[in-house]
Amino acid sequence: MALAGQRVVVIGGSSGMGLAAAGAAAAAGAAVTIASSDQGRLKAALAGLPDSCEGVVVNTRDEGDVAALFARVGELDHLVYTAGDSVRPQPLADLPLDSARELSEVRFWGAVAAVKHAAPRLRPGGSIVLTSGTVAVRPAPGTALAAASASAVEGLTRGLAAELAPVRVNAVRPGAVRTPLWDPVPEPQRAALFSALAERTLTKSIGEPDEIAAAHLYLMENRFVTGTVLTVDGGAVLAGG
Ligand SMILES: NC(=O)c1ccc[n+]([C@@H]2O[C@H](COP(=O)([O-])OP(=O)(O)OC[C@H]3O[C@@H](n4cnc5c(N)ncnc54)[C@H](OP(=O)(O)O)[C@@H]3O)[C@@H](O)[C@H]2O)c1
Repeated sequence: MALAGQRVVVIGGSSGMGLAAAGAAAAAGAAVTIASSDQGRLKAALAGLPDSCEGVVVNTRDEGDVAALFARVGELDHLVYTAGDSVRPQPLADLPLDSARELSEVRFWGAVAAVKHAAPRLRPGGSIVLTSGTVAVRPAPGTALAAASASAVEGLTRGLAAELAPVRVNAVRPGAVRTPLWDPVPEPQRAALFSALAERTLTKSIGEPDEIAAAHLYLMENRFVTGTVLTVDGGAVLAGG
């Protein structure tokens, strides 16, 4: 098992692609700490994971919380950061600047805090995997701030790969993935949206969390990969329309 004896921390591990990454890392032999801000979601997630996994409540908006998580975990081998909140497309003209700044709080600044406190505790051979999104390279009207935040994560990935070497730093850039992030969109609109998003890929599909987790696992395991943004999007970036 490729991650036997290793400690993996997944922030955002209570749901969606983070939960799938936690399951994949545990299946590869790692002891996994999942972290997120909601105790109930963490508990429900842990019920579906092996006993080698634990859960810690952390709000990544609060640097003190993040620092306490890594002080508690101690040494680790891999950090996976998938924490993110749901955002509604909104033109910049309609956004007060404080709300615009807020859009980067969990996805970008939370990742910065996590890396800052995890990096000094990473064992040799360790890695960090962050999360952006295809919105970084194929934005739609109303998603400029989300695009900026995802692009910032990708820039952060390259900068940290240089700065923290030999620690490896990579990012996964998912396309549309079927996760609870989309729950605020009620049915039947959600199913219609998924069909429309699938139509805008080359594979004519929506991603499943396991398909993204396979990318997280690859980036943790392959010791020759760093500074990379790995797109897993069914070809959405290439598809026309
Ligand atoms: N799903 C997609 O189609 C898609 C596409 C491209 C990019 N992405 C990005 O990929 C990332 C993961 O998305 P997902 O679809 O897996 O979402 P998800 O199922 O909603 O999971 C998001 C995770 O983030 C945690 N979280 C939210 N706010 C937090 C906070 N302040 N502190 C700590 N944890 C927090 C949530 O747990 P709690 O609620 O317990 O805090 C949850 O575990 C997000 O950044 C998302 O923007 C998603």
